[in-house]
Amino acid sequence: MDAGVTPTHPPSPSVILVGFMGAGKSTVGRLLARRLGLCFVETDDMITAREGRSIPEIFAERGEPYFRALEAAVLGDLAAKHGHVVSTGGGFPCRPGAIERLRALGTVVWLAADFETLYERATRLEGRPMLAGRSREEVAALYEARKAVYGQAHLAVDVSGVGVDGAVGRITRYLRERERLRPAAPAAAQPRS
Ligand code: S3P
Repeated sequence: MDAGVTPTHPPSPSVILVGFMGAGKSTVGRLLARRLGLCFVETDDMITAREGRSIPEIFAERGEPYFRALEAAVLGDLAAKHGHVVSTGGGFPCRPGAIERLRALGTVVWLAADFETLYERATRLEGRPMLAGRSREEVAALYEARKAVYGQAHLAVDVSGVGVDGAVGRITRYLRERERLRPAAPAAAQPRS
């Protein structure tokens, strides 16, 4: 922030989508951003832009711990992105302390679905290193382990039940309601004449 400039408004909060691979975070996020008139950003894209190589290349060349360290760095960068719709990678909120930091940036939404649906959708496309070399049971165990973190979102939307449009509708209704219930900011002091 420029020295000497007093902000008159608090920074606008972001909407952060979390959830397992195959939940449709990119598709829902893009449509949600369009509906809300906000910028859309994906943490995986922030990582590939930083590194100049794809997520599978990062995993293959540097391994998962390196990728997770990049996610931690990107989490720091997100603090500067006010009023965005942010789609996160499936493991992004699972680092200790990450979900709390995401909650501080705005409204966190868990795009949930039953494991069968997620697995079927996640395995449809190549290029997900967390699925490579893991059996279905191992992926299910990963999902079970992560559910407790996703469950700390402000809102959970079952995408398998409602589809993309329905999910976006539910999120926008929730945001409107949250805004309506938010206590009004105290009026700025006016100079007395
Ligand atoms: C990962 C999910 C991926 C990507 C990376 C790791 C995970 O994102 O961040 O391959 O650990 O679940 P999507 O959830 O968009 O597939």
